[in-house]
Amino acid sequence: MNSQQTLSFELLKQLFQSRRTVRRFTDDPVDENAIFDLIEAAIWAPNHRMTEPWRFYVLSKSGERRKQIARLTHDWVLANVQNPNPERARASAEAAQKELLDAPALIYVFSLPGDSDEVTEENYSATSCAVQNLMLAAHAKGLGVGWSTGKPCRSEKLAETLGADPASKIVGCLYIGYPATTPTGERRDVSHVTEWL
Ligand SMILES: Cc1cc2nc3c(=O)[nH]c(=O)nc-3n(C[C@H](O)[C@H](O)[C@H](O)COP(=O)(O)O)c2cc1C
Repeated sequence: MNSQQTLSFELLKQLFQSRRTVRRFTDDPVDENAIFDLIEAAIWAPNHRMTEPWRFYVLSKSGERRKQIARLTHDWVLANVQNPNPERARASAEAAQKELLDAPALIYVFSLPGDSDEVTEENYSATSCAVQNLMLAAHAKGLGVGWSTGKPCRSEKLAETLGADPASKIVGCLYIGYPATTPTGERRDVSHVTEWL
């Protein structure tokens, strides 16, 4: 290994280790060119059979579509979150809606189905790799990303509202912005998760 490779590895390792899930952002807007760069980084993810199965839906902050999705999420939470206290249930629905409206940038990611279960599963894996590319690229630009598969991804009307292929699978809702706070991270040691056989 030459010194150039060593330097690159140390920089990448620093990038991997310092990236954190971010859900609290400053009010600074995220430029559309930056979002383009993130998606461009995402689509270089590995994908078996070159299916390029990822689809991205960028919801502009003041656009109608973002409002529709935020409302759908609000309604889904009200209908599905088990909370005996109606006031708390309402507050939870409103918080989910507000988080979607407030995110400086918002991207939904879907994975296309394949012509067999095996390909569909590979497509989902590849799209997850694409999301990781996107998150690392964002981090390198000083942006933070929160990947959610929770409330904002649950409405049955989501794919239809976004214009996604009805057979596609939701991979996540990505909240993006400049971090207001940087959470700390933790991982177990390599020895806990690896068998050297
Ligand atoms: C497939 C996937 C789905 C996730 N869904 C959620 C989610 O619904 N809500 C949430 O708060 N975080 C979600 N996360 C973020 C994880 O909780 C987060 O990655 C984990 O806590 C580790 O933190 P780090 O990303 O800062 O290392 C998701 C992450 C992945 C990979």
